[in-house]
Amino acid sequence: MTAQRDTPPSRDGLFRTKSVEQSIRDTEEPEHALRKSLSALDLTVFGVGVIIGTGIFVLTGKVAKETAGPSTALAFVVAGIVCALAALCYAEFASTVPVAGSAYTFSYASLGELVAWIIGWDLVLEFALGTAVVAVGWSGYVRSLLSSIGWNLPGVLSGTDATKGFGFDILAFVLVLVLSFVLVLGMKLSARVTSIVVAIKIVVVLIVIIAGAFFVKASNYTPFIPPAKPQPAGSGLTATLTQELFGYAPTNFGLMGIFTAASIVFFAFIGFDVVATAAEETKFPQRDVPRGILASLFICTVLYVGVSLVVTGMEHYTELSVEAPLADAFKAVGQPVYAGLISFGAAIGLTTVCLILLLGQTRVFFAMSRDGLLPRFFSVTHPRFRTPYRPTILLGVVIAIVAGFTSINELAALVNIGTLFAFVVVALGVLVLRRTRPDLHRAFRTPWVPLIPVLSVAASVWLMLNLPVETWLRFILWMALGVVIYFAYGRRHSGLNEPVGRP
Ligand code: ALA
Repeated sequence: MTAQRDTPPSRDGLFRTKSVEQSIRDTEEPEHALRKSLSALDLTVFGVGVIIGTGIFVLTGKVAKETAGPSTALAFVVAGIVCALAALCYAEFASTVPVAGSAYTFSYASLGELVAWIIGWDLVLEFALGTAVVAVGWSGYVRSLLSSIGWNLPGVLSGTDATKGFGFDILAFVLVLVLSFVLVLGMKLSARVTSIVVAIKIVVVLIVIIAGAFFVKASNYTPFIPPAKPQPAGSGLTATLTQELFGYAPTNFGLMGIFTAASIVFFAFIGFDVVATAAEETKFPQRDVPRGILASLFICTVLYVGVSLVVTGMEHYTELSVEAPLADAFKAVGQPVYAGLISFGAAIGLTTVCLILLLGQTRVFFAMSRDGLLPRFFSVTHPRFRTPYRPTILLGVVIAIVAGFTSINELAALVNIGTLFAFVVVALGVLVLRRTRPDLHRAFRTPWVPLIPVLSVAASVWLMLNLPVETWLRFILWMALGVVIYFAYGRRHSGLNEPVGRP
């Protein structure tokens, strides 16, 4: 490691960068060090654990019914390709800058402090709201299981979606608090718990594919891509940005429906980037992080295509349920036992998704605090558990409250736009760092640069454009708030204000 070559291009401007060497050195300060215990297999398990979740268990039915029919499988392929392009860029960055913080750290080393702050702030949004969305999805499955044995929670404790008015989702609230506690106790414990739960989840998904295949009727696949159907023009804010920008009449289904569906089911892939956030806790990050990211992404894409083909083959897409499509498809073919198993597995599986999103979230916050952009109080690790317990507790409580009052749909779109934005920044970062620091050792190199990063930017932007105008407005508002905080606090307290070579 060329630790002496500590020459950030500028230490004063908005584009001052934190050198890669400094990033790695920071992680070696004992007070701020995380325990290095994870392997490529642990990372793959983490990836699969967080990727398979609400997206496949809940959104598949809604998308098939309203937007793409059996061609939902193609929407998964499109979203998978967008993620694979981003994954190739993430993998290079993660193997070059193996410290906590994912896209945040990567952009600090390449695109400068302001962009790093923006991306860190963006990731806080992605992970925090993602956790809340999944917690609420989990609570829906648990309530459905409870009600099948005759226990019904009062409406006021079942959340806003269930009551269609005021409601506090007590189950989602408690889940987030419990998982935060697990994280405070340390990576090792949570990794072990995660592996067991991930195994259960994969078994359930395989049950859907294998058992479901026997009930597929070929006639349900005709037409595979349902013909385009005009929709009442999205009223202003709910129209997608593409419709507003290009003024074409909105339709569902047809070829364009596949892309609209892809921008929604994209949520099902969110999480592979979280693997990169655990780079600092990995024994051999240069080798294992790229392996973990690509392996988990590949496994999930294959499973998603399988599940969506089977489910739309079991039941005509117009008949699919939007709340629990996988379980209900089995009920529809007279298999309630399978349906119960699937609901049970979904409830267990969504727990890991929440856990890992929460983990990614605290690690980004931790990294930002260690750099002084957020108060350093949050970057002191626990003396015994070596975990960033302060941000874990703070964010756990905030997210639990958000989950208690959250409606899934709007927040999922916001999570998608935030994540796609991070993909754009990472892909640009690969290009910039290749130019500014060609000397750095890269255990994994993105192939066909600049083609892959450029395609990654274009694909991510395309999916962003397929999201509603109101999602764009919320996103812009959140980012504007972030910029204000940066100029009011982060810029003045940044570690880069201190003399070069601070201990
Ligand atoms: N990909 C995760 C899910 O589908 C966030 O729930």
